[in-house]
Amino acid sequence: MSGVRVRGLRIGGPEGAIVRHLDFDVSPGECVAIVGESGAGKSLSARALLGLVPDGLSWSADELEIDGTAARSLTERQWRTFRGRRIALVSQDALVSLDPLRRIGAEVAEPVRIHEPSVRGEAVAARVRDSLERVSMPEPDERARQYPHELSGGLRQRALIASALSARPTVLVADEPTTALDATVQARVLELIRRIADDGVAVVFISHDLGAVARVADRVVVMQEGRVVETGVTAEVLASPSRSRHARARRGGVSRAARAHPAHRRSAVHRPRRDQALRRTGRRRRRLVRDPPRSYSRGGGGVGIGQDDARSSRGRRDHRG
Ligand SMILES: Nc1ncnc2c1ncn2[C@@H]1O[C@H](COP(=O)(O)OP(=O)(O)OP(=O)(O)O)[C@@H](O)[C@H]1O
Ligand SMILES: [Mg+2]
Repeated sequence: MSGVRVRGLRIGGPEGAIVRHLDFDVSPGECVAIVGESGAGKSLSARALLGLVPDGLSWSADELEIDGTAARSLTERQWRTFRGRRIALVSQDALVSLDPLRRIGAEVAEPVRIHEPSVRGEAVAARVRDSLERVSMPEPDERARQYPHELSGGLRQRALIASALSARPTVLVADEPTTALDATVQARVLELIRRIADDGVAVVFISHDLGAVARVADRVVVMQEGRVVETGVTAEVLASPSRSRHARARRGGVSRAARAHPAHRRSAVHRPRRDQALRRTGRRRRRLVRDPPRSYSRGGGGVGIGQDDARSSRGRRDHRG
């Protein structure tokens, strides 16, 4: 089928299974949300869809069909031409791992350059403009000439989505694309995501924000500690009291795996993720200006464009609107 079909996805770590028996489908034109508490396995599952499970972890699936291709058996070389072209990722930490020295236009052009070498010169510029217009970027030509720090967080997120879409993939995976944004900016990015699905793209939307999910998703998959605990039409899943949310409320919103982490052991109450992100982002931005890491020279804003797979998955966010 077109879109995504996943059956029996398993991801294993050094201490055992992290994701077990994950099943879901996303059709073209549909937005399916994967929700769940921190550490439930949402990002790892997203990365598995693009063959980007980090080193040190293993994965397998009974079926993994992406845009009609049996992706389970792709070699790494085949993944490099597949990823970014047929399925693209806006990763959880993409906003702050944008290359500060690369203009937005080059960022958006990157997947075209990699996957469609026959598109050149003016045609690339036209594609960049199309992609920026597709995400309703105001003044697209001017934005294309700017650097990431010249754009607000919301516009940067639009640029990342434009980059993910520029090679015209049929599947888009957006991992927490709105979490770090202010409420009004979030609403606009959510509208955009809905519109992308309405245009016929199969969208996997990862979030722990049920309000956001209610606005964009047709169906929801609720994960808890690596398993699906609930799945169904958004309104029905959100309306019914769920085992997962009761359990989460009892524990203060953190999975068992995440609670083992020292940051959570220090405090019985889970600090709001956005506050943590703000603090980390401020520190990181100052450090980046002084000392941009070498990996930035490889470029790619975490959009799964074929060459990027080694970025941190620590989930740093930006907060500007
Ligand atoms: N590279 C890795 N090696 C070992 N364990 C990992 C690795 N990446 C993630 N994990 C663990 O796998 C589990 C699931 O991680 P994942 O990032 O998928 O969670 P998540 O649901 O996306 O959480 P969040 O909402 O915080 O983004 C966590 O317990 C995490 O610590
Ligand atoms: Mg995540």
